[in-house]
Amino acid sequence: MKKIAVVGTGYVGLVTGVALSDIGHDVTCIDIDEHKVKRMQEGKSPIYEPGLDEVMARNIEAGRLHFTTSHEEGFNSKDVIYIAVGTPEKEDGTADLRFIDQVTADIATHVADDVIIVTKSTVPVGTNDYILKKIRERLIHKVTVNIVSNPEFLREGSAVYDAFHGDRIVVGADSKEAGDVIEDINKPFGIQVYRTDVRSAEMIKYASNAFLATKISFINEIANICEKVGANIEDVATGMGMDDRIGSKFLNAGIGYGGSCFPKDTKALAQIAANNDHHFELLESVIRVNNQQHSSLTTKAKTVMGSLKGKKVALLGLAFKPNTDDMRESPAIAVSSELLLAGADVTAYDPIAMDNAKKVIPEGVTYVDSTEEALAGADAVFIITDWPEFKELDLSVFKEKMATPLLFDGRNCYDLNTVASANINYYSIGRSPVE
Ligand code: UGA
Repeated sequence: MKKIAVVGTGYVGLVTGVALSDIGHDVTCIDIDEHKVKRMQEGKSPIYEPGLDEVMARNIEAGRLHFTTSHEEGFNSKDVIYIAVGTPEKEDGTADLRFIDQVTADIATHVADDVIIVTKSTVPVGTNDYILKKIRERLIHKVTVNIVSNPEFLREGSAVYDAFHGDRIVVGADSKEAGDVIEDINKPFGIQVYRTDVRSAEMIKYASNAFLATKISFINEIANICEKVGANIEDVATGMGMDDRIGSKFLNAGIGYGGSCFPKDTKALAQIAANNDHHFELLESVIRVNNQQHSSLTTKAKTVMGSLKGKKVALLGLAFKPNTDDMRESPAIAVSSELLLAGADVTAYDPIAMDNAKKVIPEGVTYVDSTEEALAGADAVFIITDWPEFKELDLSVFKEKMATPLLFDGRNCYDLNTVASANINYYSIGRSPVE
């Protein structure tokens, strides 16, 4: 078992640290935020992630999982240091490496033993070489440092499950020995390990996210055509997905992707291409299609309702997907801005993302504590996030609570025949309403 430090306790760093401790390693998670570290020492996760508190608590109790704000303490006598700090997006779409730079300086100052640096953060191709160079240049103690790119494929909302059941662990190492150590560390997960070079590993991460985003924009475009020609996107996606070469996953049409990864990583990859004299035409279309898709419900509402001025519109769901309180790049941001701009009176409800929503959604939206309150007297309702509690609603609530039962569903939550028999006026994505 190895002694491991993890720098950065966002969802990638924290879940990585907790999972590595759960398979028996001695893990110290480092974060500069004192308040957050104190909470984590008490076994409380600062992020909403199903199952995380429980796994944290059992490893803290077993004495394998520690939290500190001190780099000196955190980096002391570690075999491996995982970097999991954020790489936010700069205005031009490139990744901001400010936090990476800070970590390289901290590592160079404090490591006093040979160490392997493992990068979990999503970083532009070539960044691991840069990290290694920076650390070596500034080292205080003459120790050996190796680098491994080990990109993360966790999904928010199922990150703990994914950590133990992922499809692959990618290890891109600068030496066979360093790669062997990281492969060994991960062995107890029982997940297949794919070994490659550092730059290919960095590229695998971007290419994977860009490909998944492409699948979503592709199916959304097919959905838009289905609406025009009278086909049903769900049947089309099912029929396509039966071909193993296509695969059935990530073919759910909807209001477009959001989150902290796809929007940022697609833009960063397009920028990486541009910086290397390559115009990534396909990816740029994927990004454009996604932005347009965020407007699809508002456009439909304007066609059906005419002017939205003074109309009471309920928004159900604000998070970029269910099981998370993350509002980053959520389609709800674009939708609420458009509705407010059109003069609508907007009332919103989300099971857990409302605190975060208030920070990013423009002023003017009224927040309420239940679906029923949101629907009360509404002229129309928009579903933005497919939370189970919305999918499981007794559909009579729309008729009972709303002024007019008019439903615009951005996530295809309901069966067309069921809504038709509930006498709801229903518009979804890529499906024509049943008369
Ligand atoms: C995504 C990837 O799935 C992870 O593998 C990756 O590790 C992560 O980004 C990352 O780079 O950190 P995440 O952003 O948590 O994970 O969420 P997803 O479940 O992939 O969903 C992303 C967006 O696509 C959501 O807005 C979701 O509603 C949308 N989506 C997904 C669709 O519209 N249709 C689909 O069929 C699937």
